[in-house]
Amino acid sequence: MTNPAGTPTFDAVELIRRKRSGQRLTDEQIDWLIPAYTRGDVADEQMSAMAMAVYFRGMDDAELSTWTTAMINTGERLDFSSLSRPTADKHSTGGVGDKITLPLAPLVAACGVAVPQLSGRGLGHTGGTLDKLEAIPGWRADLTNDQMLRQLDEVGAVICAAGSGLAPADKKLYALRDVTGTVEAIPLIASSIMSKKIAEGTDSLVLDVKVGSGAFMATIDQARELATRMVALGRAAGVNTTALLTDMDTPLGLTAGNALEVAESVEVLAGGGPADVVELTLALAREMVASAGVDVDPADKLADGSARDVWKAMIRAQGGDPDAPLPRASHTDHMVAAVDGIISRVDAMAVGLAAWRLGAGRARKEDAVQAGAGVVLHAKPGERVQAGQVLATLHTDTPAAFERAHQALADCWAIGVEAPERRPIVIDRIS
Ligand code: URA
Repeated sequence: MTNPAGTPTFDAVELIRRKRSGQRLTDEQIDWLIPAYTRGDVADEQMSAMAMAVYFRGMDDAELSTWTTAMINTGERLDFSSLSRPTADKHSTGGVGDKITLPLAPLVAACGVAVPQLSGRGLGHTGGTLDKLEAIPGWRADLTNDQMLRQLDEVGAVICAAGSGLAPADKKLYALRDVTGTVEAIPLIASSIMSKKIAEGTDSLVLDVKVGSGAFMATIDQARELATRMVALGRAAGVNTTALLTDMDTPLGLTAGNALEVAESVEVLAGGGPADVVELTLALAREMVASAGVDVDPADKLADGSARDVWKAMIRAQGGDPDAPLPRASHTDHMVAAVDGIISRVDAMAVGLAAWRLGAGRARKEDAVQAGAGVVLHAKPGERVQAGQVLATLHTDTPAAFERAHQALADCWAIGVEAPERRPIVIDRIS
């Protein structure tokens, strides 16, 4: 069937049945479905059935490519070609304590590469980059495209909210997947992330695909498949894309929660901070700088303070005061070790859930987050502890939340007699 303008139209129910039975969707069917859903001609309940069918049946590479392009074509594409420097961006699939964007963007900018980092707010147990930065007094996330371009030119780095014009199909579909148990489908994750990143118009992209208990992808095989499919989509669209598979069984660094993670990021920019955060920041920075064709070692820019200078300029340019004290929660409580021994595991999901219950995250997208809430770890795997020693401090403005946070952390620590094998942060690289 065709409409008066000559474009074919389809029956949504027929397409759902087709995908449900394991058949592939044609280019024409996908090119009709995605804009029709974005316009509201295909109902939410029909698209949720389609998302569930995709969850069980998957998509082949050609379907995925058409689906992603159709999502991009529902919105605008940004253009950074007027900038004098190459652009590189990073996207993480989300993890507990993942504050890496904060030190990474100014560090890569200090190396001479412009970083347009369009970010989101958190939902569930992983925090959102914008929620973290909004803990800084005065800082604002919403910039126009012109303000973003000017900041990229003058400061070199911008972290801001993705405007509603980029891949609007994804905004609608992601919110639907979030409430229908269909987030964890590899083709849907790959098209969601890559539609936004390709529309954003960056020259290079480094993907940080997390693996482990605190990540969407619990196994290395799933993470490798997701990374491989996203790298292929990026390269086919002319974006120089690579991916690192990185560990997310243990939280990154010692903090999970908005202001707490900003403070830890500032420590990294000042030349300190936890070793795993520094290691991953440098690994991702090296990938971004190399893929932009720039020959500078990010470790030098961290050591000589230039990354910290860009951070301060980047925060000031968005109305924030980088030297103002960060908000602190009004109440604290502790988790202590039950036995003597060596910590063999700190479960990322448990820490993320506890931080979320303490008020650092939101259950619905319209909820507010507490800037000071979260968890500070005092020991990580491999460290020896004694019974009664404080393992974590819990922060919140709502002390009634402590009980549920304690429940989330009940099985968080494994304490044994032998030191665990040291797990590398970067597990694999896909290019
Ligand atoms: N992040 C996204 O932007 N989309 C997904 O589907 C999952 C994580």
